[in-house]
Amino acid sequence: MYILNTVDEIRKFVRSARATGQRIGFVPTMGYLHEGHLELMRWAKKHCGIVVVSIFVNPTQFGPQEDFAQYPRDLERDAKMVESVGVDVIFNPSVSEMYPSGYCTYVDLERVTERLCGLSRPGHFRGVATVVTKLFNIVNPDQAFFGQKDAQQVLVIKRMVADLNMDLEVVTVPTVRESDGLAMSSRNIYLNPEQRQAALVLYKSLKIAEEAVAAGQKDTSIIRQLVIDTIAAEPLAEINYVEIYSYPDLEPVTKILESVLLALAVKIGRTRLIDNMILGVGDQCI
Ligand code: PAF
Repeated sequence: MYILNTVDEIRKFVRSARATGQRIGFVPTMGYLHEGHLELMRWAKKHCGIVVVSIFVNPTQFGPQEDFAQYPRDLERDAKMVESVGVDVIFNPSVSEMYPSGYCTYVDLERVTERLCGLSRPGHFRGVATVVTKLFNIVNPDQAFFGQKDAQQVLVIKRMVADLNMDLEVVTVPTVRESDGLAMSSRNIYLNPEQRQAALVLYKSLKIAEEAVAAGQKDTSIIRQLVIDTIAAEPLAEINYVEIYSYPDLEPVTKILESVLLALAVKIGRTRLIDNMILGVGDQCI
C-alpha cells in the first residue's frame, strides 16, 4: 500500500490504475479511523478494483471555536487499519497542498445546508463541499462512499454531485454502531467512561421514536417531544437539535406518511455527537 502526499502523485497513481481497466473507489476521511470507516472501505473494495482513501483533517469545515487543533491524528495507526481491508493507496496531503497561499474558491449549497448541522455549524458544509469537490477532482473516482451517520453530509454531497454534473456515483453505507448502540465516530475518543455511558442516550432516544412509529404514532411533534424528553433525562446531555424532516428533501413535515429523517445533535460534556434514523416506510439510506 502506498501513502502519497501530493496532488501530482495521486493523479499519476489513479491514471495508471485506470489505464489497466480498474474502477476507482474513493473513501474520503479525516483519519483516526474506526470500524465505520473500515466498512466504507470494504464496500469500496467490493465494488471497485482500486480503493483510494484520503486522510485530511480539513480546516475549512471547522468553526473558530471547534476542535480542528485537537482533532485526533495518527497516520501510522490509520495506515495499518486501512491496509488490513485491502486499500491500495492513502492520499494524505498537507493543508498547504490542498489550500496553497492565495486560495479563494469555495463551493456553497443553498437549502439543504440551511437546517440541522448547517444551522448549528455555520460554514461547515461550505468547507465539506469545497474539500470534497477538490478531492473528487484530484482522485477522479468512479464511486465514492459515505456513511449514513452523517445523513445531512450525504444529502449535501449527492445534491452537489447532481447539480454540478460530477461524473461519479455516491454510495451511502449504513451507520456502524458499537455493540451497545453508540454510533461509531472519531470523536467518541473524547468521552470519559461516565460520558461514554451517557452518550447511549442518543441511540436510546432514536429507538424510542422508532417504537412509537411502529406502534402507529404518526405525529412528528409527539415523536420529537418523546426524543427530547428522553435526552433531557440524561444529566450529562445537552441538546443541540432534535429535528424531523422529510427524507431526502429535508422539508418540514407534521405527519409521518412517507420516509422522514429524525436527526439529532447532542453535547455530552464538550463533545458534540450526532446520530439519526430514517422512520416510516422506505429505505434506511438513499
Ligand atoms: O466525513 C468526514 O470525515 C469529512 O466531512 C469529509 C467527508 C472527509 C470531508 O472532510
